[in-house]
Amino acid sequence: MPFEFPANFQMHWHADDPALSQLINGTSVLLPYMEPFIIDAIRDATKLVTDPALQQEAKAWIGQEAQHFMQHRRFNEVLIAKGYPQLREREKEIEHEYEELRKRSLKYQVAYTAGFETIALATAHAIIADRAHLFRGADLAIASLWLWHVVEEIEHKNVAFDVYQHVYGEYWYRVYGMVAAMIHLFQMVRGSYMVLLKADGLWGKWKTHWAIKKFTVRFFGASLLGILRHALPWHHPSHVANPAWMKEWVALHDTGVRGLAKLDTGRLQRSPAEMVSA
Ligand SMILES: [Fe+2]
Ligand SMILES: [Fe+2]
Repeated sequence: MPFEFPANFQMHWHADDPALSQLINGTSVLLPYMEPFIIDAIRDATKLVTDPALQQEAKAWIGQEAQHFMQHRRFNEVLIAKGYPQLREREKEIEHEYEELRKRSLKYQVAYTAGFETIALATAHAIIADRAHLFRGADLAIASLWLWHVVEEIEHKNVAFDVYQHVYGEYWYRVYGMVAAMIHLFQMVRGSYMVLLKADGLWGKWKTHWAIKKFTVRFFGASLLGILRHALPWHHPSHVANPAWMKEWVALHDTGVRGLAKLDTGRLQRSPAEMVSA
């Protein structure tokens, strides 16, 4: 995906909400460390998978996640170059954090991955449904980057879950992995957007706290039920129907159309085809 972040790229890319911009930028900071961790977990677990079809799916999944973190790394480099050198220190902390998690059992790492993928699936649905609010007037590349990422999260929703079920399958441990992932990711994301907002001189201001609260309520309100579904013993991600907008995005991508890396953020309510700039 040829995302372009021009020289005049605005880090507060949301038209009227700098805190929201930095919350989402802060999430991006995490991904070049978190996604390699989940890739390695699934790669190691695949050695224990005896179903060739699932092995193939895991391989494709690894390919998609690798693309995600490479694109987010490109974006993060722009972010740092735009005046956030403090992020280097934060990156070291995140890297260390995932080095520590790699010392845990493979079962823990795969349960964390399956849990994370459920959180990613639920938030992907929330982001697509709320795209008009989240990306209103936003830079084309940043909106397109996140929409591409969440489309693929929905596309490969079953894989980590199936690997966990195939290799381990223990119900309570699966729930534990999801809760552990949720708490850990919350801490990781918060630590990252705090660095950004402190650098902006916005941390500690009532307006910033209000914006964070509003976003948290809106976002978790929309995705919490989807996350908690993971705790239902009979749950399988395939039970969650794919949104129409996502299916259209995938179909459009398969036609080889250009422009999915710079969707028109003035037409967020429209179909992907109508958002593709000429
Ligand atoms: Fe991803
Ligand atoms: Fe994923």
